[in-house]
Amino acid sequence: MGFKEQLDINRLPEHIAIIMDGNGRWAKNQGKFRVFGHESGVLSVKDIVEGCVDIGIKYLTVYAFSTENWNRPIEEVNALMELLISTINEQAETLNKNNVRLNAIGDLKSLPQKCIDDLANVMEVTSKNSRCTLTLALSYSAKWEILSATKKIAEQVKEGKLNLDEISEELFNAQLTTSNIPDPELMIRTSGEHRISNFLLWQMAYTELYFTETLWPDFRREDLFEAIVDYQKRERRFGKISEQLN
Ligand code: IPE
Ligand code: IPE
Ligand code: MG
Repeated sequence: MGFKEQLDINRLPEHIAIIMDGNGRWAKNQGKFRVFGHESGVLSVKDIVEGCVDIGIKYLTVYAFSTENWNRPIEEVNALMELLISTINEQAETLNKNNVRLNAIGDLKSLPQKCIDDLANVMEVTSKNSRCTLTLALSYSAKWEILSATKKIAEQVKEGKLNLDEISEELFNAQLTTSNIPDPELMIRTSGEHRISNFLLWQMAYTELYFTETLWPDFRREDLFEAIVDYQKRERRFGKISEQLN
């Protein structure tokens, strides 16, 4: 029996976040340049988005480029930006066909102008789609996001528009780039690294973490379904004891 058949379709996570890691090592293993790994990784993204659409995952967030990734060799950064631009433009039609809305989080204004424009365009042409929201984390860092939210709140306090005791989890959430997305129930990281790398720190306070050795360009929907089956075997207690659940 495949993993898809083992899924409990009534207990799917609403939101899955993925750290797509291992493109460079995948390419190197074959004696190819790192960029070849990134290009191949796009095929995994397409398959995973279709897998999510197929089973009914409402939100998928993928970490595509971190703030720290700006420190990579300039040739790799440029290649990643070009790949991003070509991919979002090539995929606009497929996103619409699959009823997927494109969204982006991160310090988007630090991206090349062409990237900003094309992203805005594809987000606009897919904005009415409702089956799944695909969020790209681009030039994203959780510490950047939390600091930005804190500054916005501090500004409102300073201007006398907000009292200290009005600062709640909900109010803080509303200042995050993910304000209109529920927290992920499941986070997957490929390539055998066991770390968060500055991804969704606030939002993942109670997320189930799943790590796999599989490198991102080898990750396909069957691997996603395997991760969800694993997630569905877990007991999420949120601080309570087993007997209190149900
Ligand atoms: C993930 O793969 C893609 C990005 C970070 C853009 P890597 O490029 O980090 O691949 P490895 O980890 O070096 O193998
Ligand atoms: C995390 O991967 C960022 C993305 C997948 C976009 P990295 O490869 O950049 O992370 P580290 O350097 O291993 O922490
Ligand atoms: Mg990596």
